[in-house]
Amino acid sequence: MKITKFKIVTKNKTYPIIIGNNIIKRIDKYLSSEIKNCKKISLIIDNNIPKKNIYEIQKSLRKYSIFITYIKTNEKIKSILTVEKIVDNLLNKNFHRNDCIIALGGGILGDIAAFSASIIKRGIKFVNIPTTLLAQVDSSIGGKTGVNSKYGKNLIGTFYQPDLVLSDISILRSLPKKEVICGYAEILKHSLILNKKLFMWLLNNGNKIINLKNDTLMQKAIHASCKIKAKIITKDENENNLRAILNFGHTFAHAFETTSKFPKIINHGEAVLMGMICALEFAYQNKLLKHQELMMVKKHYRELNLQSDIKKYFKKKDINKIIKYMKSDKKNFNENINLVLLKKIGNKPTLIDFSKNKLKVFLVDKFS
Ligand SMILES: NC(=O)c1ccc[n+]([C@@H]2O[C@H](COP(=O)([O-])OP(=O)(O)OC[C@H]3O[C@@H](n4cnc5c(N)ncnc54)[C@H](O)[C@@H]3O)[C@@H](O)[C@H]2O)c1
Repeated sequence: MKITKFKIVTKNKTYPIIIGNNIIKRIDKYLSSEIKNCKKISLIIDNNIPKKNIYEIQKSLRKYSIFITYIKTNEKIKSILTVEKIVDNLLNKNFHRNDCIIALGGGILGDIAAFSASIIKRGIKFVNIPTTLLAQVDSSIGGKTGVNSKYGKNLIGTFYQPDLVLSDISILRSLPKKEVICGYAEILKHSLILNKKLFMWLLNNGNKIINLKNDTLMQKAIHASCKIKAKIITKDENENNLRAILNFGHTFAHAFETTSKFPKIINHGEAVLMGMICALEFAYQNKLLKHQELMMVKKHYRELNLQSDIKKYFKKKDINKIIKYMKSDKKNFNENINLVLLKKIGNKPTLIDFSKNKLKVFLVDKFS
């Protein structure tokens, strides 16, 4: 299987994303071509990564001084306290700007490690090896770093682009199916907002992708999805306008997650899947999207058994809470609720604001 590689060009940095099978075995080669004069490496690893993968990386990096930290990830440890420990440790070991942090984990670990790299001596080198499908197609691209605060998710952070991203498909083999579906939700989102051809391709291949059945198809899906996100962040690195379209389905999704006191009852991927269906149905009800396009997406959900029914998790009495959380979304500038809505599959969505009453009627209708 061929390795695919493309460059992300931002104002601050140009860096490669390399996608392939078993590529972590040769991490030394990729690292030395991107980062010169690196001597020390801090390898920060998610506790659930199989020993075999860690051994391969260590073996390939044997010429460097390596310091390993394991983290048992969850949203609670995604905190400034964890970052402080990492920063203290690396300052104590006298890491220089040419030395490097390598993250081996999903989005939580990647966000913590990238944030730490961005603030040590105003920025040391950073390599991301995303190990979840969501991290490979979404969080490892774009340079958003950060941790949670007691006031909310991802409220402390920086924009800091990595020096290299290595997405190895073989690492996904140990990933639970629920987590694969989280990543698939983002691939599907990317296709819906900017690439109809990819959406049509997913209609035929989605099933094999969520069951990790075919490495070539996996690589193609990851590559296509990364390219869509790359296109958006290249045009809007610091989240000023265009990047908002990546929030398609997420205004509903964040409200669902918060209302259900995530992550126990509902995970992020399920919330995004239900959020996208709500956004599509709402667009159809408001005469923005054609019925036939809504049906195409719904059929795909049915065939892949993807979560679409909010009644499985919520009762009618939860609607006020859902609306309250939708109102606190950072896209809102007045009393209305701003939604990213699709007029046509694969065409850039539009941001439109609606009154909370209109949204309430829509949600109540779902329970009748
Ligand atoms: N920076 C961004 O642009 C961005 C974008 C989207 C999401 N995020 C953040 O990403 C986080 C979610 O990321 P995620 O979905 O990757 O979740 P995660 O990092 O929590 O990983 C999910 C689970 O999979 C396990 N895991 C990871 N890799 C594995 C592997 N190869 N084999 C077996 N188990 C493995 C982890 O231990 C964890 O239990 C959230 O905190 C979110 O805020 C950031």
